Amino acid sequence: MRTPNPSRPQRSPHRRLAAAVALALAAAALAAGPAAAKPEPGGGQPDTAADTPPMGFNNWNATQCGEDFNEDMIMGIADLFVEKGLKDAGYEYINLDDCWAEYDRDENGKLVVNAERFPSGFEALADYIHSKGLKFGVYTSAGTRTCSGDMPGSLGHEASDAQQFADWGVDYLKYDNCNNQGVPAEERYAAMGDALEATGRDIVYSICEWGDNEPWSGWAEEVGGDLWRTTFDISDSYGSMLSIFKDNVELAEYAGPGGWNDPDMLQVGNGGMTDTEYRSHFSLWAMMAAPLLIGTDLRDATDATYEILGNEEVIAVDQDRLGEQAAVVSPEDGLWVLKKRLADGSYAVALFNETGAAQTIATDADAIGLRRSGSYQIRDLWEHETYETAGTIAATVPAHGTVVYKVAASHAGSSPADVQVGGSDLGQVEAGDAAALTATAVNNGRTTVESVSVDVDAPRGWDVDATTDTRARTLKSGRTFTTEWEVTAPDGAAPGAYEITVTLEYKSKGKRVERDLVLTAVVVEPPPGGTSYLSDVDWVSAVNESGEVQRDAAALGFNGTSGPITIGGTVYEKGLGTVATSEVVYYLGGRCGAFAADVGLDDSAFGTGAVTFEVWADGEKVAASAALTGDDAAAALAADLTGASSVRLTATSDGSGGIGRLAADWADATITCAA
Ligand code: GLA
Repeated sequence: MRTPNPSRPQRSPHRRLAAAVALALAAAALAAGPAAAKPEPGGGQPDTAADTPPMGFNNWNATQCGEDFNEDMIMGIADLFVEKGLKDAGYEYINLDDCWAEYDRDENGKLVVNAERFPSGFEALADYIHSKGLKFGVYTSAGTRTCSGDMPGSLGHEASDAQQFADWGVDYLKYDNCNNQGVPAEERYAAMGDALEATGRDIVYSICEWGDNEPWSGWAEEVGGDLWRTTFDISDSYGSMLSIFKDNVELAEYAGPGGWNDPDMLQVGNGGMTDTEYRSHFSLWAMMAAPLLIGTDLRDATDATYEILGNEEVIAVDQDRLGEQAAVVSPEDGLWVLKKRLADGSYAVALFNETGAAQTIATDADAIGLRRSGSYQIRDLWEHETYETAGTIAATVPAHGTVVYKVAASHAGSSPADVQVGGSDLGQVEAGDAAALTATAVNNGRTTVESVSVDVDAPRGWDVDATTDTRARTLKSGRTFTTEWEVTAPDGAAPGAYEITVTLEYKSKGKRVERDLVLTAVVVEPPPGGTSYLSDVDWVSAVNESGEVQRDAAALGFNGTSGPITIGGTVYEKGLGTVATSEVVYYLGGRCGAFAADVGLDDSAFGTGAVTFEVWADGEKVAASAALTGDDAAAALAADLTGASSVRLTATSDGSGGIGRLAADWADATITCAA
């Protein structure tokens, strides 16, 4: 934490000043050559622990209060930080979350470390972590007890607890909001801020009141906070990550060196999202200059997890000294373009495809604000390759995927022209059926490229036929080469998603370039003839705010269990239990008609807020409920889906919920189809 300057009540001038200082530093560093690029501490620069977003580990998303949360784990993570190069990549803090202490304080009012989990004690643990060149963090709550209820909180014990932390060698405190007895947040967080400062130790102060009191508005930094949570807890699902991204991305103007928006810790590696979604999670957090706190047990992480968390080019975007949080250039139809200005004058540009199908997302150098130039260097931070474009910044991005570029207004030297490979997902096909695929090569570069070829690869047993030429001798700047294909799913293919890979090859500036795009075909079968419960039919896709959509049960609670679907006291044996905002898609193949369900908030839902239930037949809304709250009885929804290829069920939260879990039920949902 850093003592705020009382003569600086406004935040924005400070931000401008910080930006100006960073720009001046960047200019000086450039002039002095690459060796001087990193400013030395004490050289007149602001020198605080959180000049860039904190990076490290926190156990909560991996263990909660489970048995795995212990000394072996924490020491193991510290070892892996060093062994796996994560420390070199910038990860520094090893933070313990809730449940590290005994239920009661000792007779002197001091916190007692749980001896079963941490038999060697915290001094030894801190020494171990420090001996590796890493830093040590702990957690407690600005209330009478922590959120799990298992540990005492620090309300009324601030000075003593802060001193105890400092004596142990703590470098980071996460300070939560539970059991706060209604004392105003500012007062509670100021008390701990003062107490930490009084210890004289440099301790990063992480304020965790879930955005309830708009901590970004200024008070959190005034009380010494280095970062502040902006939302309630992230869970390990694409829906949760997405909604937190959407809330946090709007707060860009409030983030900067020494005071960061915190959209919560990383879920990368925990298994509830695909690697494509985890790459998006990591990319978006880096674009938003978010703290990067690894939340998975690295002792059993996959290579893909290490590759994501260890991507130093994406980390550099997060850690850029200017400290800007990305601005939204365009949020159109879930095709997001974000830009983040970097200290060296270049921009990081992220193209994030929120939707469930591959799409081309495009912007250009002007829209980003780059200096006018005939040529731009565009570096793909996941592919680790550099190309040259004449100004277009584009990519075909798989469903839920993100492409991150670093773009600079300068000659790309010998880098090849940027030719993009394009195509769209095959969508839903029945076994034995053929689907058409258009695959393109788009030359966004300045120069003509040669020997262009496009190829399509499908899993074994699938048929792939080109119906046009697949090779072109040359492709001029600004031109598109289009190829058409017919892709046939084998008879008897099992329902599920299959990868179809488009490969583009071309020659540019004497180099041979190969680029891939992975598309999806989903093999589907329509529901059986007659009337079926939708909970007995396989969906094509399901996106849920938290956890997985449940069949014949309400959505999972925080403790990971759930009860029967219950609306206004009525228990339903059948149905879908979701958490709003959610979306479940079923394939109908044009063979179904009547849909019916009783919709409403489950009795286990909590938090304020309303949910609207909608039924979409292909692109058309065919039924919708009123905005329903927990006080409303179930509403009957019926729709005619005749002829529709698929149905999409959405339960959308109005966003007024704050902390909450809006369990939204499709009770007794049925569909009637032809045999
Ligand atoms: C709250 C916080 C979480 C975690 C838990 C611990 O929910 O927001 O990040 O610290 O408490 O109980």
